[in-house]
Amino acid sequence: MGASIIGIGSYLPEKVLSNADLEKMVDTSDEWIVTRTGIRERRICPEDMASSDLGVEAAKRAITDAAISSNEIDMIVCATITADMVFPSTACIIQNKLGLNDIPCFDISAACSGFIYGLEIARSFIVAGKCEKILVVAAECMSRVTDYTDRATCVLLGDGAAAAIIAKTDDNVGIIDSYLGASGLYGNLLYVPAGGSKMPATHETVEKRLHYMKMEGSSLFRIAVNAMAESVKKILERNNLTADRISLIIPHQANIRIIQGVAKLTDIPMEKVFVNIEKYGNMSAASVGVALDEAVKSGKIHKGDLICMVSFGAGLTWAANLIIWSKDG
Ligand code: ACO
Repeated sequence: MGASIIGIGSYLPEKVLSNADLEKMVDTSDEWIVTRTGIRERRICPEDMASSDLGVEAAKRAITDAAISSNEIDMIVCATITADMVFPSTACIIQNKLGLNDIPCFDISAACSGFIYGLEIARSFIVAGKCEKILVVAAECMSRVTDYTDRATCVLLGDGAAAAIIAKTDDNVGIIDSYLGASGLYGNLLYVPAGGSKMPATHETVEKRLHYMKMEGSSLFRIAVNAMAESVKKILERNNLTADRISLIIPHQANIRIIQGVAKLTDIPMEKVFVNIEKYGNMSAASVGVALDEAVKSGKIHKGDLICMVSFGAGLTWAANLIIWSKDG
């Protein structure tokens, strides 16, 4: 018994924040951003929406794509580092907004690796015989933890959501393996200092802008390239596969130069690498999910193709999976 993706959907808020807009906010330029990151624009969530709202829209699209009734879903896993609130979980809020009852719902915090972590959690519950159809949502309002006075981070991030329905399959297709890892040693490279139990919100934390993401970009860059390339190599090796068998690799969309570095180290030509970073920037957990949805909808993935998704994020975490795509068209 295995688990495969039977439906996929994504949702991007309409508001666009372009490099030209950012030029008016911080000391930066379109030329710097495009050359150093590959990003041209990103989407921004409207004030009256939160991560759960983006997630619900993506979930509805995934449910339609899977051609199932929402009542068939027997678990919701939500990957997010920009939860609506400290609690309850964003997964429970999404459950309520979808009008579903009683099924287990929980969030996972694995930052940009969250969607791949979520798919593996879903696969494990299905293979263990505990569930038949699981909704995995990755929803992020990164703009809510972004300091728009810090040019080193604000040019990178955007908002969006992706969702997938994972279902039991008896065929040897779907998510065939996942490789997950983490190192808390590097937690200090990417974090939001305040707003948790260590440093609860006070006037001082707000004044000092401690509720915004802090990042050491160049250290992260090096670790990201190596961790993602190693994840791809390891998952291929333990499945007795070589890189040339991959039809399409879907990497986390953090920086085009990171993506190119991973492609080079894994001997995968850029024609086989899906890139949409120019439109959305880094949407944390949502990035690989949105990219998978766009790759499917634009005809870049066909039934029987071997797909590899790979990511890294705060934690630090990293993750890769191999999927034999089992859906038509
Ligand atoms: N515009 C203009 N100049 C800038 C900008 C900007 N937006 N940002 C930084 N600079 C300047 C720096 O101040 C520095 O100037 P200096 O040399 O005078 O000191 C210069 O550009 C070079 O800075 P570096 O940090 O060395 O630039 P680098 O080539 O490393 O690119 C970047 C920076 C884009 C942040 C890169 O390191 C990167 O992408 N790192 C990975 C980030 C990442 O993926 N983070 C994940 C975050 S999201 C998540 O996981 C939740």
